[in-house]
Amino acid sequence: MNEHPSLSNLLKEERRFPPPADLAAHANVTAAAYEQAAADRLGFWAEQAERLSWETAPTQTLDWSNAPFAKWFADGKLNVAYNCVDRHVENGLGDRVAIHFEGEPGDTRSITYAELQREVSKAAHALTELGVRSGDRVAIYLPMIPEAVIAMLACARLGAPHSVVFGGFSADALATRINDADARVVITADGGYRRGKPSALKPAVDAALTKPGTENVRSVLVVRRTGQEDVDWHEGRDVWWHEIVDRQSDQHTPEAFDAEHPLFILYTSGTTGKPKGILHTTGGYLTQVSYTHHAVFDLKPETDVFWCTADVGWVTGHSYITYGPLSNGATEVLYEGTPDSPHQGRWWEIVQKYGVTILYTAPTAIRACMKWGDDIPAKFDLSSLRVLGSVGEPINPEAWMWYRKHIGADQAPIVDTWWQTETGGMMLSPLPGVTATKPGSAQVALPGIAATVVDDDAREVPDGAGGYLVLTEPWPAMLRTIWGDDQRYLDTYWSRFEGTYFAGDGAKKDDDGDIWLLGRVDDVMLVSGHNISTTEVESALVSHPKVAEAAVVGAADPQTTQAICAFVILRGGAAEDESLVDELRAHVAQQLGPIAKPKRILPVAELPKTRSGKIMRRLLRDVAENRDLGDVTTLTDSSVMDLIQAKLPSAA
Ligand code: WT7
Repeated sequence: MNEHPSLSNLLKEERRFPPPADLAAHANVTAAAYEQAAADRLGFWAEQAERLSWETAPTQTLDWSNAPFAKWFADGKLNVAYNCVDRHVENGLGDRVAIHFEGEPGDTRSITYAELQREVSKAAHALTELGVRSGDRVAIYLPMIPEAVIAMLACARLGAPHSVVFGGFSADALATRINDADARVVITADGGYRRGKPSALKPAVDAALTKPGTENVRSVLVVRRTGQEDVDWHEGRDVWWHEIVDRQSDQHTPEAFDAEHPLFILYTSGTTGKPKGILHTTGGYLTQVSYTHHAVFDLKPETDVFWCTADVGWVTGHSYITYGPLSNGATEVLYEGTPDSPHQGRWWEIVQKYGVTILYTAPTAIRACMKWGDDIPAKFDLSSLRVLGSVGEPINPEAWMWYRKHIGADQAPIVDTWWQTETGGMMLSPLPGVTATKPGSAQVALPGIAATVVDDDAREVPDGAGGYLVLTEPWPAMLRTIWGDDQRYLDTYWSRFEGTYFAGDGAKKDDDGDIWLLGRVDDVMLVSGHNISTTEVESALVSHPKVAEAAVVGAADPQTTQAICAFVILRGGAAEDESLVDELRAHVAQQLGPIAKPKRILPVAELPKTRSGKIMRRLLRDVAENRDLGDVTTLTDSSVMDLIQAKLPSAA
């Protein structure tokens, strides 16, 4: 029938959770939005653009004449910082809290929109004094403190694209990104707090700026956060934030920029090659992040308290800490530290303290909380929570159920949002007042978004079959190119399927036509002629009561092309013996069928993860195939791999 084996539809999930009646009755967005957008997609987005305040309202919506290089709202002009800050103050909301900051050591600061306007204005004047002009790139390398958001908004106010580099990255990674974007100013801090200790940042900037290609950096603006370190100072280059920002005027007139003016560059590491500088622009990006934040979280800015636990160094932080929530006039929490400092209930304590109503986090964090135990969230009052979000990787049905039951009181809808650095904003997700949710599935394209699943020959697969996720129409927040490398933009996203954006994710449609994400295509295994998703086998393993986390890879195998090899973290108390491995294999066979039974199962203490929490399967494949490990520098903790290798009987 089909010469290319498609992804088997192995996982059967029958559970359905309709929206709570009360939420549905008052939802910001109803089923009518899908109909409206299907009837007139561009008209729908033109209407969403009216959420923003434009200095010159756009008359054009999409210019796709030079596809796949898109222009959205091209003749409109606006200022992003004005939209995120000033207009709320002008609308009488100056006293509303924009940011409840919670430092890891317990220091706090609540910043109203009026204060935010003054802070952003002063920072914009300071950057101007440092010579920053519209179009100049500014690198931001900060911990999760309010100045990170203020710095981003100050850059946006001046039309100076920022390049935020995650504070956990090394001097080398920072230097590569400064060089690629040709940044002129770096904004950093002496350090931040991490796991109960101050952790220095400025030395990494000093080291980065000794590397070739960073010579054009003329100023380093340094926030004093920890005040603990003796900071090396380069006279003439380094400036304390409090010395230059605090003495500026807190009045600043924003200038309007073209809708296609660059807003930011954000680097994605990818699995190979140098990092890609993903370029996002102004009007389309802000329209989509504002709309999706309003629609997917059902945000009621007067009463909700929103909390996205991501770092501003990732796109999740850009779109759903800085630009989405603030453009909507939301009140949000910004937390500096880790979930388990100083105790494993820290997040739930924060939810209780601020009355968080909407929580947006990642499956890796949910699984960590599961592992720590149900009794920890149970000690806190989480009754304020009414919508829960997930992002970053497929969420295993078991983790989804735990999130709903133990965090959402079996009540709050879960929105599993699929998107990418490249898409800029959410693309697939249930709507909390509309969709009957299914544990583990992102389900449907949002209104105005066109997505489907295709086979190797770019043919749309029927319901019940698998293939590749593609986006078939341009969307407002789409990346415009890879900074300085249009060809790589074409090659990476637009060459696999003609005229269609290839996301790089495997996916399947279930019998209702809902979409399930199955992980990056490199993570799909070929076993005896069947394509099997690592995600599905992982979810089957995690559904066993003794397993807390699992990572599955395909290892080269002479008989079956690839053999399924699973690394599992056991829940506290589970004994690791021969019978356990047999039990787990039998469990997977029963859940998914014998074809998906792992050939090897290896209990381990930790799994290798990137700093954004994704499992590095490439390294596990190296282990499973007895190869030397490739680059481990993006791991949070490289000693994890030594522990795993030590457990392997066959390892040299
Ligand atoms: C990749 C993009 C989007 C912000 C954070 C990650 C995976 C993301 C989901 C989800 C299944 C997901 C995909 C995607 N991913 N969200 N809800 N379900 N997979 O941004 O680092 O650019 O990674 O993350 O594989 O391609 P990113």
